[in-house]
Amino acid sequence: MAKTVVKRIGVLTGGGDAPGLNAVIRAVVKTAIREYGMTVVGFENGFGGLIKNQARELTEADVVGILPRGGTILGTTNRDNPFHYPVIKGDKKVFVDVSDRIFENISIHGIEALIVIGGDGSLSIGKELYEKGLKVVGVPKTIDNDLSATDQTFGFDTALATATEAIDKLHTTAESHHRVMVLEVMGRYAGWIALASGLAGGADVILIPEIPYNIEVVIEKINARSQERKKFSIIVVAEGAKPLGGEMVVQKRVEDSFDPIRLGGIGNLVAQEVEAATGKETRVTVLGHLQRGGSPTAFDRILATRYGTGAVNLVAEGKFGRMVCLKGQNIESVPLETALGEMHTVPVDGELVRVARQLGICLGD
Ligand code: F6P
Repeated sequence: MAKTVVKRIGVLTGGGDAPGLNAVIRAVVKTAIREYGMTVVGFENGFGGLIKNQARELTEADVVGILPRGGTILGTTNRDNPFHYPVIKGDKKVFVDVSDRIFENISIHGIEALIVIGGDGSLSIGKELYEKGLKVVGVPKTIDNDLSATDQTFGFDTALATATEAIDKLHTTAESHHRVMVLEVMGRYAGWIALASGLAGGADVILIPEIPYNIEVVIEKINARSQERKKFSIIVVAEGAKPLGGEMVVQKRVEDSFDPIRLGGIGNLVAQEVEAATGKETRVTVLGHLQRGGSPTAFDRILATRYGTGAVNLVAEGKFGRMVCLKGQNIESVPLETALGEMHTVPVDGELVRVARQLGICLGD
């Protein structure tokens, strides 16, 4: 058994679920117990479980069979920020700092280090807790792939596979009915899912937040295809796409959430304009949470497993305030601060965008 001074660790999953969360938990538990003889305590429902002291020990028996399962056996939430926690005072909701409760609960369980599996919201809280004295290690999760300092977050590959399959299936109706089919995909402020699935699925138009679109250019593309006797078109729209000089479409606000903005609706807008201008029957599919569901791909299972093992290794080596990351072929780590510095969006002059342009895919500009 490898040497470490840390004997008890905590783990939680925060933010939106992503395929591969269970694979990370499994790797954390197995590595901690087998390699280092640690005890692992799982906190339920993200930081909510840490605040309310909802925890249970995780043994190897608890992680049997979870590798291929989507979701998280620990539960998760994108609310319950301990530094901005909603409480009712009189008839008003006010936000207070309850982070001290976390330190109390951590000490009740005798936990020496905490592994936070999450996206930018959860990792930012992890960073604040680290700055306040908690020994934190982060694992980058999100289908959006929008965290800098890692080549890829786990969850993205599965979401990409789901979106690609959706495009493949939409081709059937597009071709048979000679329609324009619009697929709206997730990704928040980053266009990774749209761009990558659009390339993988052979889309004709891909609209991403990083390249504001001109609807006239999109319409021209659809009309040009008709003239080339191509009777159908596929448009992939990122939920964060926006017209030139316009704004993203906000579907609703979820107050108390790490980021209250919920995007959605741009697909309908694009479809209406395309149908009105081209006269071609245009239909919309909003893929939504299907992208977060189901069994992780082999790539995500392996990446998640490597991240889980890497995170425990960091704890054992006493390297706190860091996040595991993928750099080329290797699992490395970066300070949480660096990891959260800036959002990882699609470089507009990057190779993927260039490839799309060289294939004649319309990016709306
Ligand atoms: O960050 C992951 C993500 O699925 C985004 O792509 C999307 O904008 C958002 O979460 C949806 O959040 P919710 O599950 O709260 O609707």
